[in-house]
Amino acid sequence: MFRRILDSRSFVAALLAMATGLVLFYRVPFPENQVFLRVISVRAPHVLQSFQYLYWLCLFSTPYMAYAGAFSIVYTFTLKLGRRVAPGRLPAYPDPRKRDRLFVVLGEVHNPRKPGPSKSPWWLTVPERGLFTGIAVFGAVGSGKTSSCLYPFAEQILSYKAFNKDERIGGLVLEVKGDFCKRVKEILERHGRGEDYIEISLDSEYRYNPLHNNLDAYALAFSIASLLNNLFGRGKEPFWQQAYTNLVKLSSCFIRLRTATSPSSTSTTAPSLRRSSNNAFTKRKRSSWDATRSR
Ligand SMILES: Nc1ncnc2c1ncn2[C@@H]1O[C@H](COP(=O)(O)OP(=O)(O)OP(=O)(O)O)[C@@H](O)[C@H]1O
Ligand SMILES: [Mg+2]
Repeated sequence: MFRRILDSRSFVAALLAMATGLVLFYRVPFPENQVFLRVISVRAPHVLQSFQYLYWLCLFSTPYMAYAGAFSIVYTFTLKLGRRVAPGRLPAYPDPRKRDRLFVVLGEVHNPRKPGPSKSPWWLTVPERGLFTGIAVFGAVGSGKTSSCLYPFAEQILSYKAFNKDERIGGLVLEVKGDFCKRVKEILERHGRGEDYIEISLDSEYRYNPLHNNLDAYALAFSIASLLNNLFGRGKEPFWQQAYTNLVKLSSCFIRLRTATSPSSTSTTAPSLRRSSNNAFTKRKRSSWDATRSR
């Protein structure tokens, strides 16, 4: 009760000020019989009237300020005492399959100022327009980045409108460890999208051939060298940097030359290596890289 009064202290102060003002209005009327005021009333009756209005205004505003000040002081001191907040219930978790718009629930929002429960918690979400940019998850090793962020976020995105072939969400997963891909496969199967999972690797049906494009051999070697630098760091000796760039350049030249001149090459091998840049993803049976390797 007391806390409620303090929470709406402005309103309570206004009510009390009105009551006090009314009492003062009748008990302490404007002293118009005072000598100086009588002189003013003779010389400047309008000024006296404005004094009267000001007096009436002060009868209400002064108590309001006094009450508001007193309540603020009490509020400030009682804040330190601390109070127990009854934790409120979160709204029901929005089922990702039934959402009518795309968003990702990141967590819960409780008290924005203090760590503790809130009377009215709600879901912290990233709307669709926020999902076009990156999300970085930071944390120490084994602190739960994958299990508490990556998996739930992927689950929400992949299960969104899973039943609708035109609207469901697709994506490209690039990962080093390989366990996330298994989880993605399992999520897709759980939501009836098993056929949407396509693995691109050296052993699978689909593969990506980085040599299969229109780039000049040196440009290709340079981009691969830059990638190696990013992944493993730049070596101290510039000689080796140049050496492995040249090695990749000459190797790709050799492969292209060999596949182009080989009498047994099929129509989808050497020419497509040079010509077609939109066919870098190939099905296993038609892969030019396969053809090269098998010879
Ligand atoms: N809040 C939690 N409560 C209980 N177990 C947890 C919690 N968070 C993570 N774990 C467990 O800790 C282990 C490591 O979690 P996870 O793989 O998600 O961490 P990570 O930050 O992704 O690790 P890494 O840095 O190696 O990728 C998992 O077995 C996971 O189940
Ligand atoms: Mg992890």
